[in-house]
This record gives sequence, C-alpha cells and structure tokens, in this order.
Amino acid sequence: MDILEIIDKKRLGKELTKEELTFFVNGFLDGKIKDYQMSALLMAITINGMTDQETTFLTDVMLNSGDILDTSMINGLVLDKHSTGGIGDKVTLVLCPLLASFGIKIAKMSGRGLGYTGGTIDKLESIPGFKVDLTEEEFFKQVNDIGIVISSPNKDLDKADKKIYALRDVTSTVSIIPLIASSIMSKKLACNADVILIDVKVGNGALMKNIEDAKALARLLCKLGRCHNKAVICLLSNMDQPLGYAIGNALEVKESIMTLQGNGPSDLLEIVVKLATMVIGPINKITEEEARDLVFKQLNNGLAYNKFKEFVEYQGGDLEKLSVSSKIISIKSDRSGYINQIDSQKLGSLANLLGAGKQTEEDTIDYEVGIVSSKKVGDYVNVNEELLRLYINEKTIDITELLSCFVIDNQLRETQPVIYGIIK
Ligand code: URA
Repeated sequence: MDILEIIDKKRLGKELTKEELTFFVNGFLDGKIKDYQMSALLMAITINGMTDQETTFLTDVMLNSGDILDTSMINGLVLDKHSTGGIGDKVTLVLCPLLASFGIKIAKMSGRGLGYTGGTIDKLESIPGFKVDLTEEEFFKQVNDIGIVISSPNKDLDKADKKIYALRDVTSTVSIIPLIASSIMSKKLACNADVILIDVKVGNGALMKNIEDAKALARLLCKLGRCHNKAVICLLSNMDQPLGYAIGNALEVKESIMTLQGNGPSDLLEIVVKLATMVIGPINKITEEEARDLVFKQLNNGLAYNKFKEFVEYQGGDLEKLSVSSKIISIKSDRSGYINQIDSQKLGSLANLLGAGKQTEEDTIDYEVGIVSSKKVGDYVNVNEELLRLYINEKTIDITELLSCFVIDNQLRETQPVIYGIIK
C-alpha cells in the first residue's frame, strides 16, 4: 500500500478501508510511517471527518495494537468508568468505592493529568503511601479480594493511542469527535469491563464546548461499545464551572471523602448518584427511584466510605497523613453581584501554575496546593467577600488573573443544569 495515496484519499474526503487504516496505524507504530505523515493524515481527518465505519475500524486497530486485560480472572460484574476530562472532577473517587460497596467489581486503570485537567492517579498519589503502580498479579488479587482496584496501566494497553495522542496534542488535532471516540473506546475496550460508564463533560472547561457535539460523541461511544457487546452508558454533564469547590489533588481527595460521608457539594453528588442509580437499578431489577434511595442510603450509612478506606489501605495509603498546605490566602471579590460564569479551564490552568499539575514533563506535582472556590455559579457575592481560597507552597499566581475567571453581573443569568442527559 502507498502511504501518500492513503493521505491523499483522506485529503479528498474519501472513506478509508479497514486495510488502509490498519496499514497506516501499524506502520506508524513500526516507525515505517513517520510522524509528519501521521500528522498529515490526522489533519486530513480533522478537516474531512470520518464515517462511523472508519471510526469503528480505527478503534479496532488501536485496540489490537496492545494487550487486552483478561477480566475473566475477576469474579463478578466488572465496571469501568471514564471521564472526557474536567476541572475538579473527582467523580471516580466517590463513585467507584460507592459501587464497589454494592458488590460491583471495579477494575480500573487510570491516567495522570493532561493539560489543564487533573488525573485520578495524581489525586490518589496525594495520599501518602498510596501505591499507584500495581503489578498485574496485585491488580487482579486486589479486585477479587476487596472488589475495587485503581492503578496506573500495568500492561501495554493500546500502544497506538499513546503514540497517536502525543502527536494529536502538538498538531491541533485533539478536539475531533471520531478521533476522541476511537481514542477513548480503544483504551476502554482494552480494559475489557462488562459495563463502561463515560462522563462526557460539556462546557468551557471541557473538550466538548456544546451539547450537540457532546451528544454526537456520546452516540458514537455507545455505538463503538455495541460493536464489542459492551454496555456503554454516557452521562452528559456541565463543565461550565469546576465540579464541587476544590481543585488540586489532596484538596479533591478531602472533598471526595466528605461526599462519601454524605456531606458533598450538590453538583458532584448529583452526578455520582445518577451514575450509580443507572447501574444499581437494572442490576437489582428495581425502579430508578428505589435505586436512588439505595444509593443515598449507602452514602449515609458509612458503607461507601468504609469501602473507600479499605481500598486506600489495601493500596498502602494512609488517610491520617493526607495533608493540604497550611499556607492559605483568601481572595476577596472586587465587585458585588451574581456569579454568572466561572472560567473553569483558566482556573484549572492557574491551579497547575500553583503546582497542582505539571507545566513540563520534568516538573513535580505539589499534592498539597490548589484552589477552593467559596462560591458557585448562581451565588451572590458582596464586594470584599471571599471568592476563593488559595492553598499555596512555593509557587504563587497573579490575583487579577484569578479574579478574571469570574463573570459577576447585577443580573442573574439563567443557570444551566448539572446533568444534560443520558445516552445509552
Ligand atoms: N480523552 C481521551 O482519552 N482521548 C481523547 O482523544 C480525548 C480525551
């Protein structure tokens, strides 16, 4: 096959065959197809799109580029959860132990922060002693012993996605629906769970900036799951402001603990409860309302939190030693009015500048720092009233930049829901 002919075909908006996509991806992994040739193909896809058939073929070739987890070694229904990336997104930390407390097996490989978004592995690593690099043997033993494990990938899953994603990141080809769908689903299919929950974030801090695009992505994710007989449930949720109040690793773990103790912020709770209800209802053959009651009960009776503690202890973490910085700066509002918007992408980037995330590969993460908002969209703030708190150590940030993340007006604009919908 001819490399240039394939690029040319896509440049002209034609549909690539399974053989052509397989040749191209495998050639790229072998080094026979160069970065600049893959970049050209990615840009042609960005401009001309891909049919669902092409996306299915691309997903399959990426999935088969690496190992596939043998989940038959896990006894019971295995569930995986993914988020398309958000700010203050700690849903995994609450939802996974909650579902595990119902006996559902959570076998999850998670990633680190990407760009301005945080990663579950970084958050868990803020708990002193918590081991994120489990061997395959440890991974399976833990999930069979206590029903929940979250680790960095310990197998060479989806080699194609790692190499292609790195190139997409530097060629402005990230926010393309078929490329995002094949990237997410090839990774999730390689983890081989029976049920895959995907939180598709929508808004100024998300990859999907509008609901129509988020719906299109969700439909495609579900379709790719169906091709592999996997139940995929997508929840579309609002990322026009950070989720909950806390941004930053240890701060987010603390907020997750409060939520697991029945004391969490309402937006985080709403997403967790909805996702859990959608799983618990059908499994127990009960109505949505009954499932919802069960979920709340499990949050309020301490069982979900006990499962979280058991999970953290099993992976070596010591919650007693979880600490956030004691250097706290209170930032006051320079105006009075209603908070109509919070630029979550910018807040996420500012939290990273404080050290909560990396600027370069060589940087180390400061787990104790971050930003805690005192207000949410829709709240009223008085001049000189606290808008947020900074938890800092060595690094600091520009306060005017921080204040510019908040749009404060005299009139309250219509507020958006936390959950936009479910697509299965
Ligand atoms: N998350 C992924 O895993 N892949 C993408 O392409 C975008 C978000």
